[in-house]
Amino acid sequence: MGPILLLGASGQLGTDLSAALAGPQLVPLARRDLDVTDSEAVERTVAAIAPTVVLNTTAFNRVDDAESDARPAFAVNAVSVHDLARACERHGARLVHFSTDYVFGGAGPGPFSEDAAPAPLNAYGVSKLAGEYAVRSAGTRHLVIRSSGLYGVAGSSGKGGNFVETMLRLAREQKPIRVVDDQVLAPTYTADLAEAVRRFLAADPPGGIYHLTNSGVCSWFEFARRIFALCGLRPDVAPTTSEALGAPARRPANSVLANTRWAALGLAPLRPWPEALEAYLQAKSHLTGQ
Ligand SMILES: NC(=O)c1ccc[n+]([C@@H]2O[C@H](COP(=O)([O-])OP(=O)(O)OC[C@H]3O[C@@H](n4cnc5c(N)ncnc54)[C@H](OP(=O)(O)O)[C@@H]3O)[C@@H](O)[C@H]2O)c1
Repeated sequence: MGPILLLGASGQLGTDLSAALAGPQLVPLARRDLDVTDSEAVERTVAAIAPTVVLNTTAFNRVDDAESDARPAFAVNAVSVHDLARACERHGARLVHFSTDYVFGGAGPGPFSEDAAPAPLNAYGVSKLAGEYAVRSAGTRHLVIRSSGLYGVAGSSGKGGNFVETMLRLAREQKPIRVVDDQVLAPTYTADLAEAVRRFLAADPPGGIYHLTNSGVCSWFEFARRIFALCGLRPDVAPTTSEALGAPARRPANSVLANTRWAALGLAPLRPWPEALEAYLQAKSHLTGQ
């Protein structure tokens, strides 16, 4: 195998992919190395490295901010993906692109299999769906991997960490915590996703869209409750509704992704989300002293 180019290498998933795919072939680039909205730099980089595989984990993922100004989301999630996919096509690289469960939600509840019709509810979801189409239309060999509710040790700089760290911070600050109980998902640990991607690439799967998440389903409230229970915390936490919370972006009530094509390849499902959460909390030393 030739060079593997990893974009977004300092993000949550990018950091864990850097570890899972570590080796002399891996070229991990963070934003300071390559701004993916600079199309000429993208072309130059792909031409110079001549990768066999490009993994693109970059994203504008501040879902609420994208509602009031969708331009930065479309620049990173769609236009730059269009440029990258065409650069991959020109230089013969296979593109592995990451997408989201938020491409669903406007047409019935999940679980959604890979061939379900997308119908995003918010600007972020529309921009990510546009990115998927940009990949598919470029004609390059590709895998689009949709996942959901990502949390990883590195945290997301764009989101100021991740949901787990936000919950722990609010508990430390002894603030009342209200979490929606009417949106369900499959929270996914980026270390598990990265390891699954490593196995996936080794299996040389047929191209197209794949859903890949930890197993099981919970609401954000149930997820929060499990975080506190595992850490032995007893904050003032109560369920609320999406309507009461009133976030700028609408979010799907159930965007759970059925990992249908992954299972059809005979690959083992990712472990249940509570086990993955415990492993994350251990890796972050949040369980120390119990
Ligand atoms: N987070 C979730 O809950 C979730 C759920 C489903 C799917 N996904 C998808 O999974 C993928 C990985 O998500 P993640 O949670 O690992 O995201 P993340 O931690 O926020 O990482 C995204 C990375 O993209 C980089 N980036 C943003 N704009 C860039 C630009 N113009 N040029 C170069 N790099 C740029 C960021 O760099 P900086 O740190 O310098 O900003 C960051 O390192 C994304 O495609 C996302 O849409 C995420």
